[in-house]
Amino acid sequence: MIKLGVLISGSGSNLQAIIDAIAQGRLDASIELVISSRADAYGLERAKSAGIDTAVVSPKTHENPNARIAELLLQAEVDYVVMAGYMRLLGSEVLDVFPNRVINLHPALLPSFKGAHAIQDALDFGVKVTGVTVHYANEEFDCGPIIAQRALEIQKDDTLDSLSERIHHIEHELLVDVLSDLASKKN
Ligand code: GRF
Repeated sequence: MIKLGVLISGSGSNLQAIIDAIAQGRLDASIELVISSRADAYGLERAKSAGIDTAVVSPKTHENPNARIAELLLQAEVDYVVMAGYMRLLGSEVLDVFPNRVINLHPALLPSFKGAHAIQDALDFGVKVTGVTVHYANEEFDCGPIIAQRALEIQKDDTLDSLSERIHHIEHELLVDVLSDLASKKN
């Protein structure tokens, strides 16, 4: 069993995938805490519906958000920190406390298409194959050692919506697969 802290900034569909996998017995884990960088993130509703503790931490609410995040994650005694659509950079305050324990999800095959518009950027570039990456986070956006990747082909008639839908589906599967793997290694 691994204890997770999940960081979000938006819809939280990846958070939901983790919640569902735990509920269905496919993932031997518990989510101790969900921290959002935005008070209006829909993922906070998903967490509350599942009975998970939540917190909002941002430059608006805290002078040093990363220090507060580290404090909350330490209090919750999490084994791993999952950045699931978390759109801010984590500093050494968190990364040094959880070395090789902070996992980020990215909707492209890194090192291609880093940044916040990876799916659109892959479409615009005209690549024929893109995918999803799960990697350990470091102090740069979308860098750090790769844990797993899964590819998919871009179809001629793909739009941002159609491609995003397929990528999100793969993200949900790959993230849960990686976490299951980490959980089984811990046992
Ligand atoms: C995902 O595509 C993730 O890779 C990216 O932001 C999106 C978050 O989606 N960094 P959600 O909030 O989990 O629905």
